[in-house]
Amino acid sequence: MYTKLIASLLLLGLTASQPRMTVAPAAVDDKRLAAADTDSNNWLSYGRTQDEQRFSPLDAVNTANVGKLGLAWYADLETARGQEATSIVVDGTLYVSTAWSMVKAYNAKTGAALWSYDPEVQRETLVKACCDAANRGVAVWHGKIYIGTLDGRLVALDAANGKPLWTTQTFDPKSKHTITGAPRIVKGQVIIGNGGAEYFTRGFISAYNAETGKLTWRFYTVPGNPAKPFEQPALARAAKTWGGKWWTYGGGGTVWDAISYDPKLNLVFFGTGNASPWNGSIRASVEGDTLYTSSIVAVNADTGKYVWHFQETPKDRWDFDSNQQIILANLNLAGKDRRVIMHAPKNGFFYILDAASGKFLSGKAYTAINWATGLDPVTGKPDIVPAAFYDKTGKPFVSMPGAVGAHNWQPMSYSPKTGLVYIPVNEAGFPYAAAGKDWKPLHDGFNTGLDNAAVSMPADETIRAGALAATTGVLLAWNPVEQKAAWKVPYIGPWNGGLLSTAGNLVFQGTAGSAFKAYTADTGKELWSYPVQTGVIAAPMTYRVDGEQYVAVLAGWGGVWDVATGILAAKSGVTRNISRLLVFKLGGTVTLPPAPPMIKLPLDPPPVTGTLAQISEGKKLFAPNCANCHGDAAISGGLMPDLRHSGTLNSAKMFKNIVIGGILKSQGMVSFAKDYTPAQVESMRHFLISRANEDRKLENISAALANKGSQ
Ligand code: HEC
Repeated sequence: MYTKLIASLLLLGLTASQPRMTVAPAAVDDKRLAAADTDSNNWLSYGRTQDEQRFSPLDAVNTANVGKLGLAWYADLETARGQEATSIVVDGTLYVSTAWSMVKAYNAKTGAALWSYDPEVQRETLVKACCDAANRGVAVWHGKIYIGTLDGRLVALDAANGKPLWTTQTFDPKSKHTITGAPRIVKGQVIIGNGGAEYFTRGFISAYNAETGKLTWRFYTVPGNPAKPFEQPALARAAKTWGGKWWTYGGGGTVWDAISYDPKLNLVFFGTGNASPWNGSIRASVEGDTLYTSSIVAVNADTGKYVWHFQETPKDRWDFDSNQQIILANLNLAGKDRRVIMHAPKNGFFYILDAASGKFLSGKAYTAINWATGLDPVTGKPDIVPAAFYDKTGKPFVSMPGAVGAHNWQPMSYSPKTGLVYIPVNEAGFPYAAAGKDWKPLHDGFNTGLDNAAVSMPADETIRAGALAATTGVLLAWNPVEQKAAWKVPYIGPWNGGLLSTAGNLVFQGTAGSAFKAYTADTGKELWSYPVQTGVIAAPMTYRVDGEQYVAVLAGWGGVWDVATGILAAKSGVTRNISRLLVFKLGGTVTLPPAPPMIKLPLDPPPVTGTLAQISEGKKLFAPNCANCHGDAAISGGLMPDLRHSGTLNSAKMFKNIVIGGILKSQGMVSFAKDYTPAQVESMRHFLISRANEDRKLENISAALANKGSQ
């Protein structure tokens, strides 16, 4: 009797077609994380493996049958913001975070919703978030799901029901930090950083005990006030590379995305962000390399002690973050087997470093570059052109790549099978112009020290057409050993989704142009494309349940490209967000409901009544701050209200009640009373009225031309 029971239980456990009800949820430990590569059913951490290669050994979906991929299930999300997360799948359950730091759990096979967690982030937090209310993912370990919230909480949820088990506030809520990145698990610790380098913050990364939420170590990426003791000798050394009173601006160097881990080396690697503020002359008239900003740093996984750093962009004043994903791999370079780091940061160079020492092994531009002429072959330091120091020359500099980066947070993927790295490349320049001596930091808002008004998009069809034409995107397959392109797929615009490569010789990518695509991994031939009704920026992932392979991706247009770039935001044609989790399998037959129609209202602003002085003052004030959410030249990318269309342009009182009174603060539009006088706010309204009238004139001209053409 007894043995019969055991035998039938064993049988249950061994039969692949049985649902694994007996397995505890999120039963992930260090051993499983270390062996994640061979655990082909699952996707156990943000980058699938601790070396963050984003390659899946699954090959049931392959070049021969990918054309038969169809929708298996989908889930609508209630948050209409940019969706940047990669799902995690453990033993048949899918966990994913969404905008506003919410977490959802689904049955990975059926799509049945299991639970949902909303940390109820105050919408005012948006004013500290440069780049939308995004979140890029969760971590799982010992039955717990970990999420970092936009307002800085690290929360451990019970994987069975989504109930919080512990919460740790990772920074002073009054500071201007935010969390958008995914936590990672290293030796029973949750590792998390934060963003905020445009808001005068000091970057750091922390490790917390994954069971209790207690801090185990913290590494500051830039030195603090030298009147106080430095936290580590490495920071005393870094202090020598700064000038002026850098600490009064925080310094920046925030750790907002990449973290990877090598168990053999016992090193945690992370990327650091830009120096703060962007305009280096505001920091100091004379300074060194501003360590450890725009760098990769390696620390001891148990203590957080500095081990090595490699700075990719010294003297950063271009927002050239090095936060992009850090891939660890074994490569044979010049006949020698090496454990390396592969990195494609914003600055446009592809780097290979020795993982143990940080030594520069090779580097090459992976896109068009004009801010540097190349890298020193020994040190890997860039030769920066003098014109790039726009704050020193006093002349604007149009840099390729620009502040959005040749590659941003959208994850790349490395296939050990093809030996290629797949990179979502942005070809988008940015005009940097230094603010004048009268520049003062804002209390609430974006602080870069640039004069964005000077380089804002004019109401000129020819200039607009030129800028649009020069702004594109590429799916690049890069051979890291040879440091050259293997193949490229051109896209209409930048800001396409992250990458997944599989053993089925496939590469998957969602696009800004509302498609989800599959290509052959060795040659880049498009094999499959599925219309998803909205831009995709997140990276796909794949998993297997009951012997069947699934491919999942979050759809939902947004992020910094949408909110800040004005007319360029819609280069690929997308101007709306429909947030959904989409899951595909071979022969899937589910269909999406029809997309709601696109409604484009004509501009109908009140007549211009402001004086030239008011309009010009309004432009100067609007450009460096408001435009970061409402779009360059007040042209919205779609997520935020397009102020050229706003009814508030008709009412000085309503406009003031919003911008100074803060009556929409619970919707993410805070009061800017600490920064602007009522007269200045009125100037901004007059500027917006003038902008709307300029664009109405352009609309009328193009409508007249279209009519003429059809006669
Ligand atoms: C951090 C992002 C952010 C910044 C910066 C920002 N806004 Fe907003 N703003 C919003 C959001 C979000 C809304 C929509 C609120 C809602 O849903 O009602 C909004 C709404 C508005 C509205 C109401 C529009 C309408 O028709 O309903 C006005 C006017 C406005 N903002 C003006 C400004 C001005 C002027 C500035 C600069 C001083 C500014 N905003 C800066 C996020 C921002």
